[in-house]
Amino acid sequence: MKNVLSGIQPTGDLHIGNYFGAVQNWVRLQSEYNCFFCVVDYHSMTMPYNPEKLRENTWNMVFWLTACGVNPEHLFVQSLVPEHAELAWVLNCMVPYGEVTRMTQFKDKTDQLHEKDKDAFVSLGLFTYPVLQAADILMYHAHYVPVGKDQEQHLELSRNIAQRFNSQFGKEYFQIPEPLFTDTPKILSPADPNRKMSKSLGEKHYINLFGEEDRVRKQIKSAVTDTGDTPAGEMSTGVANLFELLRACNSMELHDTLMDDYKAGTLKYSALKEAVADALVGLINPLRERLAELNADKRKVKAQIQESSAEIRKTAQQTLREVREIAGLLPLK
Ligand code: AMP
Ligand code: TRP
Repeated sequence: MKNVLSGIQPTGDLHIGNYFGAVQNWVRLQSEYNCFFCVVDYHSMTMPYNPEKLRENTWNMVFWLTACGVNPEHLFVQSLVPEHAELAWVLNCMVPYGEVTRMTQFKDKTDQLHEKDKDAFVSLGLFTYPVLQAADILMYHAHYVPVGKDQEQHLELSRNIAQRFNSQFGKEYFQIPEPLFTDTPKILSPADPNRKMSKSLGEKHYINLFGEEDRVRKQIKSAVTDTGDTPAGEMSTGVANLFELLRACNSMELHDTLMDDYKAGTLKYSALKEAVADALVGLINPLRERLAELNADKRKVKAQIQESSAEIRKTAQQTLREVREIAGLLPLK
């Protein structure tokens, strides 16, 4: 069985864009691959953060992913496997500085910080973020890495680092990872369908995957359908997004009927919105129930993740033993 690794940062809520774009795919991959799914708390230290909040967010993400159907045996917390930081150091010494300066995410996030405050603190950790990501991936000899297109450049860097390590030490040690860009939908903000659904835009721009039914219905009811800039004869992005949500929820029959109405010019947006709201509530309610069950025995879930992280750590320790040997470090006692 081939290995799959992916990671998600523990920042704030999980929204339906994350679910349809990533988490649902993880759940599916579990039956076909040897999967490693990582809550990357070390990565979340690269932007200004609050320690209490980080710990809370890390546990929340563990609970949410588990409620979505990620098998706890495949799920671990990055910092519970501190070898990730050690491997990142070794890889830092294998990557040319210039290549890291070309990473656009660093520029984007730095701009984001400077927009808020021109003297904002920008850490070296943010700069070397993609090397830590390479460590996550190479640690488990991942063949495939399911990610969004925004991570393409980081994946390319991970491949380059693996190749450089292998050629520098004359050994085909690291697996060269391939991205797995699956055909997942890009969900747009209901409040501004010209932008991607995202936490960073603010609360009205995303639909919480574990949101209250009333709020989900309200958000869909007030979703923007006419953005005023749609050329005549074309479907507006807001309406297209609602159809996309129906498709994502597997409500294909309703999707097709309503699409016929749209083409015939008889579609009532209120009917489309009701269908989307029903479909989302049908998805979200069972997830909320599952989460409530997990929350009823928090200690059990936490113990499970400590256990799986310790188990996965054994693989990481094996990698580090080999890497230390190849790279000229002394063996640990
Ligand atoms: P982020 O919250 O941006 O760190 O994203 C976490 C994961 O969710 C990544 O794999 C993204 O590709 C995916 N994702 C985030 N926002 C969306 C969206 N609006 N539509 C589809 N996938 C998304
Ligand atoms: N950088 C990824 C993101 O922002 C998260 C991540 C960290 C990751 N390590 C990873 C993704 C390893 C895939 C593999 O979405």
